[in-house]
Amino acid sequence: MSELKKIVGYSAADMAKDGQKLGLGTGSTVFYFLERLAGRIKTEGLTVAGIPTSVQTEEHARRMGIPLLTFDDTQALDLYVDGADEIDAGFNMIKGGGGALLREKMVASASARRVIIVDQSKVVERLGTTFALPVEVIPFGWRFCNLRLEKLGCRPTLRMSGDATYSTNNSNYILDCRFPDGISDPAAMEAEINAIAGVICCGLFIGLADEVLVGGPDGVKRLTKQG
Ligand code: A5P
Repeated sequence: MSELKKIVGYSAADMAKDGQKLGLGTGSTVFYFLERLAGRIKTEGLTVAGIPTSVQTEEHARRMGIPLLTFDDTQALDLYVDGADEIDAGFNMIKGGGGALLREKMVASASARRVIIVDQSKVVERLGTTFALPVEVIPFGWRFCNLRLEKLGCRPTLRMSGDATYSTNNSNYILDCRFPDGISDPAAMEAEINAIAGVICCGLFIGLADEVLVGGPDGVKRLTKQG
């Protein structure tokens, strides 16, 4: 599977153009994007800089020599490249398996062109069928959010890191929500989840992908949004 992640990561890095401001996603697929981007910076003298969506990506980028930006420097990016945990035919996604959903959603929203890189295992007919939906909540009263999420028809589990509660880069908790039959209306579900007081970010990403690069045994398939 890592070979498929590598071919899509490298293809996305080849889309970056001189002078662009980038959104740098998070995860094992994005790692290959960063690797190839760093290679282009060194060998071609490509001049790009990016806002990282997690401390992990920030650390990888620094180590690889990719120049970094923050939202203090710019609020508009040219190209965002990120992975996904699930993506459907309408380019709706579940993200946040790596816990970076909030920063990812902000950076994706600030970007003119959003390219999602996945191996073929991430493409699903219905969201929520293979992956639990991550929801970032403030630690204060997380049990209240848990209860309200249950009422939406899912089974939430507080994410752990060993024996300790997992903490996001924003010092929040994550409730991973299993939907027994998947999510039939992702946009409506996102709105319902966002309406719960204490929810900071829902891992449903709607309308935040413009192109998808899918890695499979025959290479990279490039899908663009219809309509
Ligand atoms: C990070 O929080 C996630 O949204 C990732 O983008 C997603 O989990 C994809 O990660 P992989 O490329 O490691 O599968």
